[in-house]
Amino acid sequence: MDSPLIVVNFKTYSQGTGEAAVKIAAACRDVAADAGVTIGVAPQLCDIYRVSSQVDVPVYAQHVDGVSPGSNTGHVMASCVQQAGAVGSLINHSERRLNLADIEASVRAAQAEGMNTIVCTNNIPTTAAAAALNPEYVAVEPPELIGTGVPVSQADPDVVRGSVEAVKRINPDVQVLCGAGISRGEDLTAAMDLGSVGVLLASGIVKAEDPRSALEDLVSQL
Ligand code: G3P
Repeated sequence: MDSPLIVVNFKTYSQGTGEAAVKIAAACRDVAADAGVTIGVAPQLCDIYRVSSQVDVPVYAQHVDGVSPGSNTGHVMASCVQQAGAVGSLINHSERRLNLADIEASVRAAQAEGMNTIVCTNNIPTTAAAAALNPEYVAVEPPELIGTGVPVSQADPDVVRGSVEAVKRINPDVQVLCGAGISRGEDLTAAMDLGSVGVLLASGIVKAEDPRSALEDLVSQL
């Protein structure tokens, strides 16, 4: 089995905010090194610099806007998060949805800064549309399973299989991640058996009593 990409989304959980974000990021770094996998983290925007300057771990923004330097008050500019230390960005997370034109603008803005883009999708048709925009990754996550602890690989394997097939057909350069309800080692291996190259997950790690041991469990079956 190839080494997966794992991205832990800290959302706006208090357990993943400020100094707590640094602590979980350090656990991700350590567990990734021991297991020989890549674990990236997606803290809140204001924590990107705090995390990237203290922990040697791939840091992703949770969102970027497709704006250029100029008059765009309140927007998130890709070059700003890149200079803060982000190597990539989630785009169009179910909790931060964009329209198709805005997704494309965000992907282009992030890629222009040399960042990896992970476009989140909610089903097979949106996966197909996202793949056509040529991001590095799409991450399919059925919204109804997010935060439930019921893994997508078990509750809706067809959405993962179907997304992998759609992406192969439309743009084989794009890689597929999946997420929602993933927390255990068996969830990760099941996701990879369905054809994804890794997972995007959140509550199973960030809200765990002991995030480090939750991460160890996640990579235990590789
Ligand atoms: O971005 C990851 C996410 O939406 C999945 O959340 O808590 O089900 O792992 P969770």
